[in-house]
Amino acid sequence: MTSELLSLIGNTPLVELARFSPKPGIRIFAKLEGQNPSGSVKDRIVLAMVEQAERNGVLKPGDTIVEASSGNTGIALAMVGKQKGYNVKVVIPRQVAPSIKDILDLYEAEVVWCEPVAGMKGAIDIAREEANADGHYLLGQFSDATNVQTHYHGTGREIVEALPDVDVFVAGIGTGGTVMGVGKRLRETNPDVRIIGVEPRLGEQVQGLRSLSEGFIPPLLELDQLDGRFLVDSAAAMETAHNVIRAEGVMAGASAGATLHAALRVAERMDKGNIVVMFSDGAWKYLPAQPWAAAAEGDESLDETHWW
Ligand SMILES: Cc1ncc(COP(=O)(O)O)c(C=O)c1O
Repeated sequence: MTSELLSLIGNTPLVELARFSPKPGIRIFAKLEGQNPSGSVKDRIVLAMVEQAERNGVLKPGDTIVEASSGNTGIALAMVGKQKGYNVKVVIPRQVAPSIKDILDLYEAEVVWCEPVAGMKGAIDIAREEANADGHYLLGQFSDATNVQTHYHGTGREIVEALPDVDVFVAGIGTGGTVMGVGKRLRETNPDVRIIGVEPRLGEQVQGLRSLSEGFIPPLLELDQLDGRFLVDSAAAMETAHNVIRAEGVMAGASAGATLHAALRVAERMDKGNIVVMFSDGAWKYLPAQPWAAAAEGDESLDETHWW
């Protein structure tokens, strides 16, 4: 049975960012995933993957679940683990925003660091080794089709219900689960919808975001299903997130800044239409690092931190 806390996952608000409408015919809406109980979109897929494993009989209370994550999936898993009685071990790249470790510590999740050079691929390999060596369960957000299906049946359906008329959808690319699942659902309603994936500019390190050009293409991502890929740098993402917080009072996280920045560029070439952008988490966990101030000052250490 799903607990009261876990039943709060999903059904997040779709909120218009009226102050960011660049011309009268263009409206921009943000899907506020920071409203999920552990503060990000990842609550959705973690709950779905854990419950799938439970149905398959491969998990029982007291077991340990291992996952590679740049932060949010680990935090979501730690929260779901508390509710369902699992231990949690998270493999994260050493350059993640510092409060991610603090939050994982609060949730009593075990943290295994991996070196930044190993990238997400390295973290996934270590998670697999950890799981195999100790007989733990590997969650596997990068390869489990449940990830895409959860966004198709949940996030995508909710967007269509709230706004049947979506012309452009913009999401950041991590596992590719969001952009694939939501994109498929939106295309069923409007075959002309444009699905845009956002990634960091190569070499910019965009605060550690995953650039496909660096060599790791997430297995769930089908590039031919995207109508465009947009490259955003770290300072632009943080500056846009800062602007949303100041103009709308919406606590936009780093990747939300990146998606909105891309959406505004796309809007420049449109006369009218509705654009939906994913705000995959809120700004709260980034507060201690003050990346907004660092972006404004052109601080290069921004590029060494993994912001999503
Ligand atoms: C804040 C944030 N934005 C965007 C993404 C990318 O989402 P997906 O893994 O569905 O591609 C992630 C995933 O790690 C994330 O944590």
